[in-house]
Parts: sequence; C-alpha cells; structure tokens
Amino acid sequence: MRGQIRRIPVQGNLPLTRLLREATTILTQAGCDTPRLDAELLLAEVLGCERGWLLAHPEAQVEEAQTERFCSLVERRAKREPLPYILGRAEFYGLTFKVDRRVLIPRPETELLVEKALEWISNRDAASSAPARDFTIADVGTGSGAIAVTLAVLLSKGAGTARAISPLIYALDSSSEALSVAQENARLHGVEGHIAFLQSHLLGALPEPVDLIVANLPYVPSRKLGSLMPEVAWEPQEALDGGPDGLEKIRALLHQAPSRLAEGGAILLEIGPGQAEKVKSLALESFPGAQVKAFRDYRGIERVMCIFWDKIPPSYVDHD
Ligand SMILES: C[S@@+](CC[C@H](N)C(=O)[O-])C[C@H]1O[C@@H](n2cnc3c(N)ncnc32)[C@H](O)[C@@H]1O
Repeated sequence: MRGQIRRIPVQGNLPLTRLLREATTILTQAGCDTPRLDAELLLAEVLGCERGWLLAHPEAQVEEAQTERFCSLVERRAKREPLPYILGRAEFYGLTFKVDRRVLIPRPETELLVEKALEWISNRDAASSAPARDFTIADVGTGSGAIAVTLAVLLSKGAGTARAISPLIYALDSSSEALSVAQENARLHGVEGHIAFLQSHLLGALPEPVDLIVANLPYVPSRKLGSLMPEVAWEPQEALDGGPDGLEKIRALLHQAPSRLAEGGAILLEIGPGQAEKVKSLALESFPGAQVKAFRDYRGIERVMCIFWDKIPPSYVDHD
C-alpha cells in the first residue's frame, strides 16, 4: 500500500461507472495487480450480480447503502487483503471453496498435482482387480481441503477414470482451524463420507499405510517470506514457511513415508522453483530404486515431484 488510502465520497445514489472508475484508481494507487477486475468483482458481490451484468449496464445507479458497503470492501482490498478472503471463497479445479484467514488460498499451480494424482489413480485402477472403494489416499497439509475434496468429488463421479471410485481419503493437517474449514468444504461438496479429517504432524496420525500420498506442504525458505507479495502476509505463515532451505517439512515427510506407503504406491509432492534436484535425492534416500519424475507447471517450473514406489506407469514416461 502506498500512502493514505483515498475514500470514494458517498452521497446518495452514484453511477456504477463512476464507482468503478474511482475504485480502480484507488486500487491502482495501492499497487494491486488487477485493479479494474478486482473493483468489478467487489461491486458484483455487493450488488449480488454477475460481473457481466455490470458491463452490460453502465447506466445503472448504485444505492447509498450498497455504495457504503462497496467502499469498505475496496478499502480492505487497498490494504492488500487477498480478494478470496474478502469474498470468502476461491475457485480451484472448477469448484468453489470457502476460504478465510485460517487457510492458505488454493493456487492454480496445485491443480497440476490433482491432475497427476487422477492420472496415476486411473492407471492404477485400470491395472487392478480390487474393488474401487479399497483405494486409500492421504492428503498431508490439507488446508482448505482443496486437494482432498476435489479428488473425492472427481473420483466419485468417475471423472478421468474408467469407473467411479469411492476412495477413503485421510485429510491431515497440524492446524485444527484449517481442518474445520476443510470439513466445511467437504460438506459443501457432499463428500464428507469419503474423507477422514485428522489433526496430525505430517503422517503421524495416519492409521494405516495408504496407496497414494499427496502433499502441498510449506516450501518457501523462511528468509524469502518477507519478500513475497503483500497479500501473502495475510495467509497463515505455518502454511508457507518451509524452514531454512524450504524443505524442512518435505524432508520430514519423506523420512516418515516408507512405513506409511502401501506396496506399489506413489507420492506426489508440490515443490518450489529450484527444489527438484534436492527433493529427488531426498526421495531416493527414502525409496532407493524408486522412479522419480518432476512435472512442470504452466510457467515451466518443475512443480510436482512424483515418486513411484514400483514401476513407473506408462503414461508418465513419454510426456512432460
Ligand atoms: C501450502 S498449505 C496447502 C494447503 C492445501 N493443501 C492447498 O494445496 O491449498 C500447507 C498446509 O500444511 C499444513 N502444515 C504445515 N506444517 C504441517 C505439519 N508439520 N503437519 C501437517 N500439516 C502441516 C498447514 O497448516 C497448511 O494447511
């Protein structure tokens, strides 16, 4: 935020176009990345309409009470509070998740982890004669439940797999507050019956070895936390801080994992820029002889590390 935040003068009904113009100026001065879009989304929220309606009705007038509410939301955004916290929701893999300051806002990069998990499950299911419901997954550091809930929703619909699968998913987090949000999200999407929520240090509370471990654990090196976008300071630091080299949690997880992964299982980890080589060697220390492969995100960064504890599924070998 740069300097004092200017306020939009509220007086009777105001034209929608003027409100959007003033809010865009305020958010630009505050250093927001997408000021006009943010202003439109906040006004749409206050008016209870789609963003498209605003664009189609530039002549509309906004009542004083709605303008007051809009101004207070713009003020919050100008203090660089993330838009999803202000709206109370975030989109992930086409689903809407409740979010607030108890949980990290799910990121688009993490959708690659879900995609790779679905691919592995689909291959594994095609090769197996076991009943579909015998499949077990642990989502370590579940946060809002974005990964666990998305997998439960998609697998139970048979999306990306040859048949519907009703797995048992363990959603683990050290934060009881995060687990409450994750539980709420599971209820919102009707998949609470597929997910067991456990407060746990990494895999500590997992009651049985599982077929698949997925984890988006904190991986930002502590010294870099202060140099991230101002929005990140609103998020729980225990969701981001990966210790001196960023790999404290991932290292500990890989240390625990051999006794918690069923034979023929896999581990999929989200990692940060420049961490692939180190994570690969940590994985091989815990799982000598395993197949280990990193996949790049839409920005070309090696983002998801896959560790296959038997042979590599064919579809993973040929493409990046
Ligand atoms: C980067 S966030 C990921 C949240 C969510 N899975 C996602 O992808 O949006 C990391 C999560 O790991 C949790 N966490 C941090 N340290 C942990 C530990 N030692 N054991 C279990 N969970 C931990 C945090 O509370 C946070 O919810």
